[in-house]
Amino acid sequence: MNTKVWKVDKHVDNLENNPQVVDAARFLQENEVVALPTETVYGLGGNAESDVAVEKIFAAKGRPSDNPLIIHIADKKQINAFVTEIPEKAEILMERFWPGPLTIIFKKKDGVLSDKATGGLDTVAVRMPDHPVALALLKKCQLPIAAPSANSSGKPSPTNAQHVIEDLNGKIAGLLDGGSTGVGVESTVLDCTEEIPVILRPGGVTKEQLAEVVGDVHLDAALIDETSKPKAPGMKYQHYAPNAPLYLVNGDKSFLQRLIEEKQEEGLRVGVLATAESVGAYQSDVTIACGKRSELESVATALYETLRAFNQEKVDIIFSEMFPNTGVGHAIMNRLQKAAGNKIINE
Ligand code: TXA
Ligand code: MG
Repeated sequence: MNTKVWKVDKHVDNLENNPQVVDAARFLQENEVVALPTETVYGLGGNAESDVAVEKIFAAKGRPSDNPLIIHIADKKQINAFVTEIPEKAEILMERFWPGPLTIIFKKKDGVLSDKATGGLDTVAVRMPDHPVALALLKKCQLPIAAPSANSSGKPSPTNAQHVIEDLNGKIAGLLDGGSTGVGVESTVLDCTEEIPVILRPGGVTKEQLAEVVGDVHLDAALIDETSKPKAPGMKYQHYAPNAPLYLVNGDKSFLQRLIEEKQEEGLRVGVLATAESVGAYQSDVTIACGKRSELESVATALYETLRAFNQEKVDIIFSEMFPNTGVGHAIMNRLQKAAGNKIINE
């Protein structure tokens, strides 16, 4: 299959009638799948009401069929068609954080969305992305769009169109290239079907921000204790992994430097995930500054691109610094732990 690439400048006016967006919307209406930029990562979109379109998403990614997709909308009113109720806290959260990197889980109304999109569950995950190109496309096609991250299953999520090409070229009908995404880690997945909302996946909206608006917020047990079964099916899979084994290093710079030297003595080519503040501190084969530690948002923005860059550098092993588990640091550490398959070296 030839993947059609449309370039579109997210800053131009009237994006909804931009010829590229119009063409991509037509693809979606014809149940083809199209990769699109969002403020978090690129998504692989398809008509959420169509089994045919949803099957194409799973096939292109090689994604396990029990892992449900997030439904993307441009207008809050759209959700009435496929959720049974909108709890008050969800209403408040939508008002405050949509459009934005917050996915809310509702009880699902049967018979509207493809059951394949929701993995056969009786709930549905919904979000309104904060990206002008995504919103224009969603408005134009007038469909709820199911969209997982546009990477091959298991790989780091794509934060620019080139990453999508690396993974999915020839496997998808189209790609709307709207430049680099911003937040860099995926949306926060929040279950609002219970009285106290539960974070199933930490992401762009932090626990602290949520708590400010709705009071108590719980964390899914699996985010605290690795042996618990996660409520978001996708959280049980290894994810985001670079080609080389990744180890998180819980120690100071001189400890990390000793690890580098040990591996170099074994003849390995060693990569280090550092930050702007520490990049000069290591003598490794490849050291990459993944944003600035003093601005954790910049670490989130650069994270997946950095993990992919180690593949280009053909390193044999990667050591990563660790980050504080608060604010967006929670999402960063969650993704790094998954990418490392939980391999942590303590000093
Ligand atoms: O930022 C994002 O959320 C991106 C962009 C493209 O919107 N999308 C994304 O989708 O990260 P995906 O498919 O890579 O991750 C969706 C996560 C998975 O862990 C999945 O198991 C969970 O959401 N999920 C979806 N529906 C669910 C449901 N009804 N109950 C529990 N978890 C659900
Ligand atoms: Mg994903």
